[in-house]
Amino acid sequence: MSKLVAPSILAADFANLQRDIEMVNSSEADWFHIDIMDGVFVPNISFGMPVLKAISKHAKKTIDVHLMIVDPDRYIQTFADLGADILTVHYEACTHLHRTIQAIKASGMKAGVAINPHTPIAVLEDIISDLDVVCIMSVNPGFGGQSFIENTYKKVQQLKNLITFSKADTLIEIDGGVTNKNANELIEVGADVLVAGSYVFKSDNPTSTIADLKSMIN
Ligand code: DX5
Ligand code: ZN
Repeated sequence: MSKLVAPSILAADFANLQRDIEMVNSSEADWFHIDIMDGVFVPNISFGMPVLKAISKHAKKTIDVHLMIVDPDRYIQTFADLGADILTVHYEACTHLHRTIQAIKASGMKAGVAINPHTPIAVLEDIISDLDVVCIMSVNPGFGGQSFIENTYKKVQQLKNLITFSKADTLIEIDGGVTNKNANELIEVGADVLVAGSYVFKSDNPTSTIADLKSMIN
């Protein structure tokens, strides 16, 4: 399977959101990565349902929603109705993670779990076979534009081993501080999907930045 690029809309120009969505539509990007923050689970608030609804109206690729919110169970059906294809919740925000994952799937979406930089891979041992995506946070969630945490490589390797051992078909997604400096090594150790916010949208030519990243990892 080809390795995927998922531009993070958090770094887009919100005053020109439709333009930036169309740019992703016509680029070589694979997914739209959408960060929803509640100001409680993370110390920042991004945007919510009305903005996602507007994005969905124009987005022509897989919509990958990353929830950085407490008690995500309350909104699973809402995000399905808003057009999310993949719904990722945080391990640290779910008391009954297995139940949450089943509820996401019952709503017709693929299910993902994100883990913070301090959370070990081992906590996923008993749930890995149920997961479509594991998102390894390579920064502390809450903000774009932070520096990549080097310990991530080790975690990707551990997760890859767990997936292989469990005969699961879970995708490994990396989120935070991804650039052309770490992309290759991330793929080499087992990553499948690279989220990139600032690196794409703050570049002079986001379309060619996406194309370069895509060809670099494939
Ligand atoms: C951080 C978000 C990321 C963020 C990545 O909490 O989950 O998706 O947008 O942004 P960059 O690529 O700028 O680190
Ligand atoms: Zn994210």
